[in-house]
Amino acid sequence: MEKTFNDLIFSGVQPTGNLHLGNYLGAIKNWVELQNNNKCIFCIVDLHAFTVPRNCISIKNNILEVAAAYIAAGIDPKRNIIFVQSHVSYHSELSWILSCFTPIGWLNRMTQFKDKAGKNKEKAPLGLYSYPVLMAADILLYKATKVPVGDDQKQHLELSRNISQAFNRFYETDFFPIPDPLIIGTAARVMSLRDGTKKMSKSDPSDFSRINLKDSSDEISKKIRKAKTDSLDFPKNEIELEARPEIQNLIKIFASVSDTSIQQVINEFHQRDFIFFKESLKEILNQKINSISVEMQKILNDETFLKKILKDGAEKANEIGAKNMKEIRDIMGCF
Ligand code: TRP
Repeated sequence: MEKTFNDLIFSGVQPTGNLHLGNYLGAIKNWVELQNNNKCIFCIVDLHAFTVPRNCISIKNNILEVAAAYIAAGIDPKRNIIFVQSHVSYHSELSWILSCFTPIGWLNRMTQFKDKAGKNKEKAPLGLYSYPVLMAADILLYKATKVPVGDDQKQHLELSRNISQAFNRFYETDFFPIPDPLIIGTAARVMSLRDGTKKMSKSDPSDFSRINLKDSSDEISKKIRKAKTDSLDFPKNEIELEARPEIQNLIKIFASVSDTSIQQVINEFHQRDFIFFKESLKEILNQKINSISVEMQKILNDETFLKKILKDGAEKANEIGAKNMKEIRDIMGCF
């Protein structure tokens, strides 16, 4: 018999290039744990990736790569729905409807848009501006109640909550839940290996700033060897970490990959030097990340299998989407 769960979890990753340790520790790894006690829907948000002009061939390849990474990391396609956003056209339909409930003033506050558009706001595409409304549609189409997100998406989730309430208020309904953010894990925010004040990012020009899920053991070892530290001793407590962002980052990565706490890592290494610590870090990263990367490659070699999973996922998502969209139309009574 199928288990019944109270919460419905929804999350997504953009298919934009190399997945890295930040995507894994900040998102995918936590999802693997969530699948045990929740109904989960994991999406590959290709329409979001299109907000900056992209080469569609690379989006297509990256979709398969993200799907392979989900599965290689341990997300079970039988128990969860894994699908591609553009395979379910209700996302776009609901996004339009929700945009009619979103005051421009709310969007004007979104810091990600301001950062991405930079000085050239007049030339920025409308899609980049309305991006968070599409994100709200992703979540609300499935009536998701919990959304695991990184720090940088908290503001967008807050907006989804406001949009949900605006719709419910207008139609005097409680149809849409108010989705809660789930910020989990010791390394919810993994920083660059070259500058501990910047997020690890696929767009950083230096490949030494990140560990890609596809890196070989050699590459991982080289990057950890070169990762920035300082000339002080290994820290003795967590408070010391606040002023040492690079060290904090490496310790957090260690704790997260080995499923222990920051304090435990400090206890284990405080009498050692960074060379010794880095050796151990290299070892656990090579075990964990490299095994994911090997598995990912295996899955990618069987494109038929991967595409079948995405097709099945889209079918299931479309079924829920159709049912909910019909109810939304009924509530609105206009279309
Ligand atoms: N905006 C998210 C990001 O860039 C990706 C995303 C799109 C998402 N839709 C979502 C995340 C819905 C959670 C839920 O990281």
